Amino acid sequence: MSWWWAGAIGAAKKKIDEDSGVPSGKYESVGLVVGVTGIVGNSLAEILPLHDTPGGPWKVYGVSRRPLCSWSPSPVPAFEHIQCDISDPDDTLEKLAPLTDVTHIFYVSWAARPTEAENCAVNSAMLRNVLSVVLPNAPNLQHVCLQTGRKHYFGAFEFLGKEIPEPPFTEDMARLNSPNFYYDLEDILFDELSKRDGAVSWSVHRPTTIFGFSPYSLMNIIGTLCVYAAICKHEGSLLRWPGSRITWEGFSDISDADLIAEHQIWASVDPYAKNEAFNCSNGDVFKWKQLWQILAEQFGVDYAGYEGEENRVKLEDVMKGKEGVWEEIVAKYDLVPTKLDEVAAWWFADVVLGVEIEHLDSMNKSKEHGFLGFRNTVASFNSWIDKMKAYKIVP
Ligand SMILES: NC(=O)c1ccc[n+]([C@@H]2O[C@H](COP(=O)([O-])OP(=O)(O)OC[C@H]3O[C@@H](n4cnc5c(N)ncnc54)[C@H](OP(=O)(O)O)[C@@H]3O)[C@@H](O)[C@H]2O)c1
Repeated sequence: MSWWWAGAIGAAKKKIDEDSGVPSGKYESVGLVVGVTGIVGNSLAEILPLHDTPGGPWKVYGVSRRPLCSWSPSPVPAFEHIQCDISDPDDTLEKLAPLTDVTHIFYVSWAARPTEAENCAVNSAMLRNVLSVVLPNAPNLQHVCLQTGRKHYFGAFEFLGKEIPEPPFTEDMARLNSPNFYYDLEDILFDELSKRDGAVSWSVHRPTTIFGFSPYSLMNIIGTLCVYAAICKHEGSLLRWPGSRITWEGFSDISDADLIAEHQIWASVDPYAKNEAFNCSNGDVFKWKQLWQILAEQFGVDYAGYEGEENRVKLEDVMKGKEGVWEEIVAKYDLVPTKLDEVAAWWFADVVLGVEIEHLDSMNKSKEHGFLGFRNTVASFNSWIDKMKAYKIVP
């Protein structure tokens, strides 16, 4: 059984504490996870240090601006946390230049700004800062994974859905004509790596909406929906569907954060996957009406499905001003202290669930190149909700 196949059951489920073989001394590979507290960074920080992860044993550095918290992956010995603001060139130079042993970069970070022009500027600077410091200082650097996403085909938030190719999306589809920071990141990656004359390979990973676990993710649909359901339960209100008819009834796909981490590790170590862009989704389809029922059952609430356009609600509106309610819930169930705006991104759920077209990608290219990992989305949904409960982020 290959590691990728075993990963379909969930590599991160092998708990790090069962994994007494966390390597010490000689490492085969040294990973730099930029955005380690994010939704995929978290999965990378849990999976890379496992004893049977391909390319290992791995030494891992993890970068973020904020310190780790009680629901971050366990640091040392599993990984070394580096607090650094990669939008600041001086801080990046000071903190990342000493990491001369890095062999692989996993770039799973981003910054959100109100316009795509601003997104392009800030995100380009962040990636450029990292590469321009690590490339000249890490002589054994072999590979850079860049995570972008479905908006490569769909358009940036500002232009979402205005000009899209016919789904299912394939990696060879032409770029859209509108500005998109994903395109800028790819171009910076190619430009910086060209300075090493092909000695450093790359891969681009394009997930769709991610199911995962993270204290500091800007876009966390699992966290947002769990908090919404917990508030509905607390107030005795219906779990109303805030999305479109198409998203309620049509087929959707999802990207599991552990699967994305496995995909990036595969591309890092498999020669056949080098210098390619890949879609990265679970490999199955589902309907949100299936998951909505599961969400309601998980939190013990009654739910309503699509109620017609005239009755459509937005979470940004119905959840406005619920900060005090969330404080009550945290106190009542003795949860990990969090603020509502840290654990729920209402705008993001409204966008994901409100999409007006069925959009799916194709995983054929990954399979043809040897990645056979997949996730059962219903099982994935349940397991991330269970993790939110187990860590006492939601009741
Ligand atoms: N989340 C999704 O559902 C989703 C779906 C498809 C595609 N994507 C794409 O995937 C890419 C990565 O996003 P993500 O959602 O995985 O990230 P994320 O969960 O929002 O996490 C971002 C990480 O980067 C760190 N970070 C942000 N700014 C930083 C800075 N200036 N210096 C150092 N660290 C910084 C954050 O920690 P600090 O804030 O503490 O620094 C955090 O660890 C993005 O291009 C995104 O568009 C995401």
